[in-house]
Amino acid sequence: MDIKGAVAVITGGASGIGETLAKRFAKDGALVVLGDMNQEGLDRVVAEIKAAGGKAAAKTVNVTDDESTAALMDFAIETFGAINIVAPCAGIIRDGLFISTDKESGKVKKATSTADFKAVIDVNLVGPFITLREAAIRMVNNGYKGVLFTISSIQKQGGVGQLNYSSTKAALALWPKILVGEFQMRGISGIRVVSIAPGYVGTPMVKGMDQGALAKIVSGVHIGRLIEPEEIADSMAWVVKNDAVDATCIEVAGGMISGMVAK
Ligand SMILES: NC(=O)c1ccc[n+]([C@@H]2O[C@H](COP(=O)([O-])OP(=O)(O)OC[C@H]3O[C@@H](n4cnc5c(N)ncnc54)[C@H](O)[C@@H]3O)[C@@H](O)[C@H]2O)c1
Repeated sequence: MDIKGAVAVITGGASGIGETLAKRFAKDGALVVLGDMNQEGLDRVVAEIKAAGGKAAAKTVNVTDDESTAALMDFAIETFGAINIVAPCAGIIRDGLFISTDKESGKVKKATSTADFKAVIDVNLVGPFITLREAAIRMVNNGYKGVLFTISSIQKQGGVGQLNYSSTKAALALWPKILVGEFQMRGISGIRVVSIAPGYVGTPMVKGMDQGALAKIVSGVHIGRLIEPEEIADSMAWVVKNDAVDATCIEVAGGMISGMVAK
């Protein structure tokens, strides 16, 4: 599949992986539609893409909301005439231990709140569900071909302190096989589904982490550094161009082995 001329809808497009992906696809000739809750960030990214000679438009969206997300998909069709690539990059973290005990008494002093658990499930799991569903309905009904992505994570293997986040990322890694299986049952062809599972990428989400904890994590990455967002975008561009990549989850993690810390 050609990226040039394809319409790419990217949520979380005002920052991090979504922003970098939008710029990469636009550079390769895609017509990019960005959605995010951060209007200021959207305006900045669209202006930067246009200044570089690319084509982009944006609309604020809350990916946890049916109507708002459906409106983003309609906006893409109205603006650029199709939907071909969908990358749900909107995401949040609310890290914390399931239960945390007091060192002296051994009694539980803190536990993850239901609100923090649900917030991550809502944005990271319900969000991509609504985004891909609203896109897929329109793609099938209009005969648009392309690729639906999910953004999983190396934490799909189980990130300690990330019960909520890891739960969403494990689920997202499974979706390509489920969705492609269903498409095949119904004779829906020309829409591939692929999950990308990044390691620790140098985006605001990760750079904002505790620096000591981050240094420890990086020491367990075989290439010895954070992944660049451009390397994730490059992997996704390769997926789009290679029709043989379908119904699978690809790790782009620099050889990170969970829990591994260098000597
Ligand atoms: N950074 C990493 O190391 C890493 C690793 C693996 C997976 N990921 C995943 O990649 C995706 C992007 O992460 P990032 O590091 O670029 O994060 P980021 O914080 O830089 O960007 C996330 C964007 O999502 C937007 N957003 C949050 N909630 C939203 C909502 N309800 N509706 C619309 N937009 C919303 C934010 O405004 C922000 O612009 C996430 O799903 C994340 O879990 C990131």
